[in-house]
Amino acid sequence: MTKLSFDGRVAVVTGAGAGLGRAYALLFASRGAKVVVNDLGGGRHGDGKSFNAADKVVEEIKSNGGTAVADYNSVVEGEKIIETAMNNFGRVDILVNNAGILRDRSFARISDQDWDLIHAVHVKGSFKTTQAAFPIFKKQNYGRIIMTASNSGVYGNFGQANYSAAKLGLVGLANTVSIEGRKNNIHCNVIVPTAASRLTEDILPPDLFQELRPELIAPVVAYLCHESCEDTGAIIDSAVGWAAKVHMVRGEGSHLRNSIAEDVTIENVRDNWSKVVDMNNAKRVNSIEEATGGIMSNLQALQEGKTSAPPGVIIDEVLLCPRDFIVYALGIGASISNPTDLKYLYENHEDFIPLPTYFILPGINQSMSSNIIASALPPGKEANFSNILHGEQYIEIVGNLPQGECALTSRSFVTEVLDKGSGLIAIVDNELTDKNGNVVAKTQLSTFVVGAGGFGGPRKSTKAVECVPKPNRKADAVMEQKTSLDQAALYRLSGDINPLHIDQQMATISGFKKPILHGLCTLGFSARHVLAQYGNNDPNQMKCLKARFVKPVYPGQTLVTSMWVNGNRIHFETSVKETNDVVISGAFIDLKSGPKVVPQAAAMSGLKSDGVFARIQDGVKQQPDKAKSVNGVFLYNITSDGKQVKQWTLDLKTPAVYEGSPKSGKADTTLVISDDDMVDLSTGKLNPQVAFMKGKLKITGNIMLTQKLVPLLKADAKL
Ligand code: NAI
Repeated sequence: MTKLSFDGRVAVVTGAGAGLGRAYALLFASRGAKVVVNDLGGGRHGDGKSFNAADKVVEEIKSNGGTAVADYNSVVEGEKIIETAMNNFGRVDILVNNAGILRDRSFARISDQDWDLIHAVHVKGSFKTTQAAFPIFKKQNYGRIIMTASNSGVYGNFGQANYSAAKLGLVGLANTVSIEGRKNNIHCNVIVPTAASRLTEDILPPDLFQELRPELIAPVVAYLCHESCEDTGAIIDSAVGWAAKVHMVRGEGSHLRNSIAEDVTIENVRDNWSKVVDMNNAKRVNSIEEATGGIMSNLQALQEGKTSAPPGVIIDEVLLCPRDFIVYALGIGASISNPTDLKYLYENHEDFIPLPTYFILPGINQSMSSNIIASALPPGKEANFSNILHGEQYIEIVGNLPQGECALTSRSFVTEVLDKGSGLIAIVDNELTDKNGNVVAKTQLSTFVVGAGGFGGPRKSTKAVECVPKPNRKADAVMEQKTSLDQAALYRLSGDINPLHIDQQMATISGFKKPILHGLCTLGFSARHVLAQYGNNDPNQMKCLKARFVKPVYPGQTLVTSMWVNGNRIHFETSVKETNDVVISGAFIDLKSGPKVVPQAAAMSGLKSDGVFARIQDGVKQQPDKAKSVNGVFLYNITSDGKQVKQWTLDLKTPAVYEGSPKSGKADTTLVISDDDMVDLSTGKLNPQVAFMKGKLKITGNIMLTQKLVPLLKADAKL
């Protein structure tokens, strides 16, 4: 590892007679820099003066074999310090503005002197010294400057108003110096140190004080001053051998009026306040151009009427990426143990697609992160995390589900507020549209607000999509799946971070013995079950879904989804196997086309022959030309217990291998074979001629084409 050297460099460190400055000076000198050790040797509060402080450090450097010279000027006369450097060493490459004092007083008691002295040493001192060095840096086209700020400035600290103001003033100074210096290779960065020194001996707790050696920060400052460090305009927080970049961020903000023609009223501000202060999607603004550019594009959007949300309507842009869909699919129990689930879990799968229930989330997240419900309530009624329950949920998929990354506009508004006596129900409608303005999904959320009823409002809804009781007969199909103990921990990564689902304390306060599973997580499991059982596990089959949440589920419990077929409508009810409690009721999914009954084993666990087709899929991808040489489209009808359970298409013209019938045109050859025989055929256990003779393999269409195909399908073949 090459050591970073400061050979040939001259470093000026102000206030280097003690504390952090001393550590910086010693380190620079130990790496070959000639150092100006500046310190006026005053007291902690800016009183007195002595040569002692700087001299001692110079002696220490010299006795270690380094080169240093003392300077006793106050930083307020910074030009004299730079003169010392030029007179002794003929150049300056590095300036660390470090000198500092404290005059702590509670804000009301700060005198003019307390204010002026602090600003003189910190702000004016850094200004004077830097301004004196700047032309030298410019001329030599090289310079490294450090300003020293403080957490007191970044975050505020009781009793340090004068110091906080000065320290954050230095951040502003560094921001602009870094911009003006950039074209001359002059970098200016800010260090926010926390170290044991006489400035902090009565501020920091004694135990911590021992650990806060200035020597642990010095390498950070030295690196920022090295020619190899490319950063400029950075704020670096450092202590105890740790360092991190700090920067300011700006939230997404909100328009306060609906059109350019309108003025802004105080009430507009109040009504949009939660969005003004919402920092969920805060971003770093990198320059003043970017900051003002953002303002101008907001103005333009307003002029074009793009952002005018009517009162009570919340509009957000949501950018969805494959990762969001995958995390969600895992959260609701999709698994690679079921091969037909791979399309939900693998972004490079040729049929990669989100689960339809995913599109409930943007509306939910919008309702949760805004005050849309609270602001629609009658006066005096409140809704917050502690008194709201997710009552019912509806979703309708309007077009085809988006695949891969997509930008959607999410628009939510409260449709109705119903008075239920003890509580109220707020119905929130959400609409998701794509960038062309096409509606992708519509959802409706019914939230029960406990204890907020009795305001004389309507009891019955005219706009809610109603739940439907299940048929009065034994279920046509039942599917069960055990949730994982970590199910809620995984599901919350999709956005609902209510601590009730992860934090024992919150669960106890809310009256549950353990953190509970999200209702929408349970619903996701059930919707998957219905699709797997009756929709060929094709998410585009789902037209709409409605469900009522009845009871909570604990992570680790087994969900049982009972299903009843009624034309295209599949009624379902979800219960917990361990307790028999019904947790989702009155629920249904309407399929786009009639239900395709898939035997349960196949629905949930996939077929053995899926592996064979997956291998063929790989082979075709690797050797498309070989596949194309067959020049045929084959449809496989796979059976189990005499019933067809799956179809696979080997389109060796394109070539492509996928589940289902040919996407375009007709198959040249159709083969019917059982799941087991397909596996035996591929491993060579079953000879194709024998299979054909015995009726295990039925072939219609162009039989001759299979002659070309069969050798390619053996397990040891490349295809
Ligand atoms: P320190 O008191 O040990 O060292 C500061 C040095 O600056 C002293 O030797 C002092 O004589 C010198 N000095 C004061 N006024 C001067 C002037 N007008 N001209 C020349 N030299 C002068 O303090 P420490 O803790 O090493 O502080 C160094 C810098 O780091 C200061 O700017 C301080 O505000 C800043 N800082 C320190 C923190 C800490 O945790 N120690 C926290 C945040 C900021």
